[in-house]
Amino acid sequence: MKKTLSLLLVLVMAVSLFAGCAGGDDGKTIIGFTIYKYDDNFMSFVRRAIEKNEDQVDELLMNDSQNDQAKQNEQVDVMIEKGADSLAINLVDPQAASTIIQKAKDAEIPVVFFNKEPSAEDLNSYDQCWYVGTTSSEAGIIQGELIRDAWKAHPEWDTNGDGVLQYVLLKGEPGHPDAEARTKFAISTVVDAGIKVEELELQTAMWDSAKAKDLMDAWLSKHGEGIEFVVANNDGMALGAIASLQGNGYFEGDLFMPVVGVDAIPDALSKIEEGSMVGTVLNDATNQGQATFDLAKNVAEGKDPLEGTSWVLQDKAVRVAYVAVNIDNIEFGKKAYE
Ligand code: BGC
Ligand code: CA
Repeated sequence: MKKTLSLLLVLVMAVSLFAGCAGGDDGKTIIGFTIYKYDDNFMSFVRRAIEKNEDQVDELLMNDSQNDQAKQNEQVDVMIEKGADSLAINLVDPQAASTIIQKAKDAEIPVVFFNKEPSAEDLNSYDQCWYVGTTSSEAGIIQGELIRDAWKAHPEWDTNGDGVLQYVLLKGEPGHPDAEARTKFAISTVVDAGIKVEELELQTAMWDSAKAKDLMDAWLSKHGEGIEFVVANNDGMALGAIASLQGNGYFEGDLFMPVVGVDAIPDALSKIEEGSMVGTVLNDATNQGQATFDLAKNVAEGKDPLEGTSWVLQDKAVRVAYVAVNIDNIEFGKKAYE
């Protein structure tokens, strides 16, 4: 009798312990995700990397914030009501981190931001808050090195022969840390290599192919062959520029234009293989999605954010490395997006 009683006690203790460490008080692990908009080429790959872990948790709440911060704030409220044990947030507006952090604090749950980096001040305002992304400047530096090396290897690309690289730049969303840093460092890296540059145009196409095509159409009719290089903050916009260039007779016969991007999405890799894109910078969607999921799950279950993983935290951030991709290592790029 005594034996059965103590066995029962041990069982009850074990069960309550298990419930205690599984996050929330229902013993279930629920993680609430938002993507700033599903209709973003690169983010669709990050999303895929997250969703393939679906069976690792009881519930994976996924939300398309449709590029609307007010909508995202509401989605966060709903996920908290549904009992989310942690939040993983791809902000619409990088400035809105403090609003999300306040909601997480009030609900006493952790939050992992990804892809759009909040300010260090916001990150440090809550001990249960982390970031998964990249070092934004790194993509700019690598892109600048691609431009530098390609320009030096092809003196014929200086079509007006003035020794100056005349470029147009397609910028991502203004205020987005990736857009700002890529714009700045791509050009400064070229200039630091002793190459003279002239900026013919710089405008935002909001990471978007169709918008980039429209801008490139306008720039081509304004500058014609005066443009010697197209620098795009991401591949989506590079692809839009290439579509415009193709419509204007480029990449047939002698008419060529060097174009560079960032992300290494499969469509861009095809353009590199076809010879209509010089290079890109791998933005590792697979590993960023996986790291975001791993951290969000661990903290949802009350564990150390890195438990059972090989990610490295530096000041509350996991930063996945960028890698240069051109025709020489195209297979490497393909593997990363498999
Ligand atoms: C990617 C872009 C993407 C943006 C979304 C960037 O890191 O390079 O392609 O549109 O993130 O926030
Ligand atoms: Ca020139």
